Amino acid sequence: MPIIEIIQSHFASYFASKSGKPPFGSYKKIQGWLTPVEALGLRYVASQLTENARVLEIGSWKGKSTFCIAHGLSNGTIECIDPFNADGESQSKSVYDNEKGEEDLLMQFKNNLTIVNDKIQIIPHKGYSNEFVGKIPAVDFLFIDGDHSIEGCTFDFDNFENIVKQGGYLAFHDYHPKRKEVGPTHVIEQIVSKNRNYTWKYRFDSLVVFKKVNS
Ligand SMILES: C[S@@+](CC[C@H](N)C(=O)[O-])C[C@H]1O[C@@H](n2cnc3c(N)ncnc32)[C@H](O)[C@@H]1O
Repeated sequence: MPIIEIIQSHFASYFASKSGKPPFGSYKKIQGWLTPVEALGLRYVASQLTENARVLEIGSWKGKSTFCIAHGLSNGTIECIDPFNADGESQSKSVYDNEKGEEDLLMQFKNNLTIVNDKIQIIPHKGYSNEFVGKIPAVDFLFIDGDHSIEGCTFDFDNFENIVKQGGYLAFHDYHPKRKEVGPTHVIEQIVSKNRNYTWKYRFDSLVVFKKVNS
């Protein structure tokens, strides 16, 4: 893990607001579940992408991870699929209900991202991932953090991995090796790790990043 580069980029962005970017530390004001290492990891992966990168995020909630990805990009587009209604698989429903707050979630998402540099286009798609299969163009980075059930996470991998470009990145949040019942753990260990098109690249706490390679 290139920890030195990550730390350097973190401090650089904290103290020098380059290219009109807000301080990276602003991500902490957005409610969500990323640890600081995961937040930096997402930013780092995005910073490895080329100009005019395209990103798809499945599961955006209030935009914390979206902000981190946007901060790493120099320019490009992030498409974000989420029902923005605090819905999710049964294990997460009560957590989402407790954390959603009074204001409409899509409005909170948009408000949290107003500070993002205008070179980054953020396109929210209100709905479930199954409504967008075949509708999203090829991406340089696919981040899966939506339905955390085994069925839901498998569905997202099976139906969206084909849009990841060769050399692009695929990441999952919530990898817990001791919890085999968690969707991302299952998909990472039983499906992606056995797929020769993907090579394990980084782990940042529970964020696991693969790179798509020629098999
Ligand atoms: C853990 S939260 C995402 C957190 C966000 N990535 C962050 O780090 O700030 C999971 C989100 O996925 C959404 N979700 C659940 N099932 C989904 C599905 N089938 N398609 C898209 N989003 C889904 C939930 O509504 C919730 O907003």
